[in-house]
Amino acid sequence: MNTDEANRVVGRPLNRVDGYLKVTGGARYAAEFPVAKMTYGVTIQSGIAKGKIAQIDTKAAEQVPGVLAVITHLNAPKASGEEGGGRKLQLLQDNIVLYSGQHIGIVVADTFERAMHAASLVQVHYDEEKPTINMQENLDKAYLPAGKIPRNEPPDKSHGDVTQGLAAAAVRIEQTYTTPIENHNPMEPHATTAVWQGDQLLLYDATQGIFQAQNKVAGALGIPPANVRTMSYYVGGGFGCKGSAWSHVVLAAMAAQKVNRPVKLVLGRRQMYGPVGFRPATIQQVSLGATREGKLTAIRHAGISQTSTFDEFIEPVAKTARMIYACPHIETSHHLVRLDTGTPTFMRAPGEASGSFALESAMDELAYALNIDPIELRLRNYAEIDPDKKLPWSSKSLRECYRVAAQRFGWHKRNPKPRSMRDGNYLIGWGMATATYPTNRSPASAIAQIMADGTAVVRSGSQDIGTGTYTVMTQVAAEALGLPVDKIRFELGDTQMPETPLSGGSQTAASVGSAVHLAGNEARNKLLQLAVADRASPLYGANVEDVIAQDGSLFLKDKSSQTETYARILARHGLKMIEARADAKPGEEKQKYSMHSFGTQFAEVCVNPDSGEVRVTRWVGSFGVGRILNAKTARSQLIGGIVYGIGMALMEHTVTDPNWGRVVNADLAEYHVPVNADIPMIDVLFVNENDPYVNPLGVKGIGEIGITGVAGAIANAVYHATGKRIRDLPITLDKLL
Ligand code: MOS
Repeated sequence: MNTDEANRVVGRPLNRVDGYLKVTGGARYAAEFPVAKMTYGVTIQSGIAKGKIAQIDTKAAEQVPGVLAVITHLNAPKASGEEGGGRKLQLLQDNIVLYSGQHIGIVVADTFERAMHAASLVQVHYDEEKPTINMQENLDKAYLPAGKIPRNEPPDKSHGDVTQGLAAAAVRIEQTYTTPIENHNPMEPHATTAVWQGDQLLLYDATQGIFQAQNKVAGALGIPPANVRTMSYYVGGGFGCKGSAWSHVVLAAMAAQKVNRPVKLVLGRRQMYGPVGFRPATIQQVSLGATREGKLTAIRHAGISQTSTFDEFIEPVAKTARMIYACPHIETSHHLVRLDTGTPTFMRAPGEASGSFALESAMDELAYALNIDPIELRLRNYAEIDPDKKLPWSSKSLRECYRVAAQRFGWHKRNPKPRSMRDGNYLIGWGMATATYPTNRSPASAIAQIMADGTAVVRSGSQDIGTGTYTVMTQVAAEALGLPVDKIRFELGDTQMPETPLSGGSQTAASVGSAVHLAGNEARNKLLQLAVADRASPLYGANVEDVIAQDGSLFLKDKSSQTETYARILARHGLKMIEARADAKPGEEKQKYSMHSFGTQFAEVCVNPDSGEVRVTRWVGSFGVGRILNAKTARSQLIGGIVYGIGMALMEHTVTDPNWGRVVNADLAEYHVPVNADIPMIDVLFVNENDPYVNPLGVKGIGEIGITGVAGAIANAVYHATGKRIRDLPITLDKLL
């Protein structure tokens, strides 16, 4: 037995350590800090999508009692929207309007209501130009971007000769799949509280990246990052929209400087549709070629997505096609069309979520064309190595995932013939798809301190966007430090803590977890070295390998009577604490192995043949995602991803007015997301996976894989139920009638 085994707490379904604070309102979000002399910012947004502000009249607004400032391009301090990394921002530097909903001013008042009222009095006259809004009508302007897709990969790539592969195929599927704009709707909207203390800026921000926000705001304002401290202790959901610091964050800081008081700026739900990103619409052409036996001879996946006129975001829909199935000829590309909208951004599994809808639908179409079971078709093309990088997988349990999910679902009872399964008058459909998401990791640091009272404090910048970072890091720290979880205080969410990456790309557990693990180990080792070198210790002279740290004590492996507590060791040495810092980063293993999570999605739908209404009635998902840090939060993450995917498949659709470029359903009444009544029992199965290569903890990340494959599985189930292949999301009843 080693220390880790003695303290085995990683993996247990520990309740959220912040749960009590959250349900009692004790957890403070970005807009909830009681700052003295607070003022309230409300932005004015452009009503047109393209043109210039000819005139902006702020007089009436300025005369509203309590108004402290009305800032527009006419009086805004200098700032740069291009500096500091991330997205390009609009910071009131000129009169140019680039999209509907662009912030063109900010009103600051002593109450929120007065600021709202004043903002409504600002009169704007525009020199309007006709905006380009519709991607479908502007495909002639599609271009191959110079930028990269994630992991520094080119937007277009090919292996072999797809034209030849398709020519050699006995069966071909060539179809176009489309997905609409979708918007993030975290429960907590974007919110920033900006407080200046001399030349130091404090920002309480709802963000997935405190360090990214720090750099962006510092860059925009032209001040050193060290002068900006960003704090984000609790975040009410991110999903990608809070992965970039958007214009309003800088505007809050600018406004606070202008009025020389703290400014709180919270975006209203409607303001979340336009200036803070969205999942772009995509048009995806998929061509598959296969032999009669179901061996793929060619995969072509060509994606077109929208971006803004002033910035580039590539939705990497075809990335998965490069690695998911074994195939000699694979060609993938990503093109962009510039439109007069805000810049799109990451939204849960950007690329994989939309891309897997197209590819997994096409695979199902191929299975029908070949008359082969869709699981069997996927097994016949099982990629034993990464077909793109030609590297072995660090681990892959997909075969086992198909097996356990099919068994749990009862797949063998499926009659593959469309419209063959019924429940009374209702049509029943069963569909499945493969899920996958890359295993990401970035450098991260942490500090662990064993305190004189035998407790420990562990700190690491980072963010908990609702996923359970506080909880799982407490478990990782407890295990490494040899302490019970209730003796650990894990702190995060402050740029004064050790640096960590964005909570995006499903990388927090892998990156921050590695740092916490190493820092905890290092602190424990320091303590241990101190004890064995100390004549006064019962462990004096022992081999460090023979000493176990457990429950806040050290003891000798086979003689548990030879023991002493951490507190006693520190007291005897007159130490307030023992501290260790770890800077963890990925090593060579990335060059040797291809690292991905894999899983499967199995859906049952029930379709009303008269109304076309689709209900999801059963779900089984299986996942090989490395080591599970917490069985409860992990399951919750995957269920959340699946729910998100059900929304994507059946409901979510941002509708933009083609003439005005304005989102017409910018609220939760008209933008539909699933509610409890839309969601069946979701069965999540974990396949035991031990991956020694991905990172010291063996975790692969679970924030995003849950949504991948979901829309494809549902589209496939809908086809099975109805005989109608819907290649355009969302699958609403009008498309089935
Ligand atoms: Mo996630 S879309 O990488 O925040």
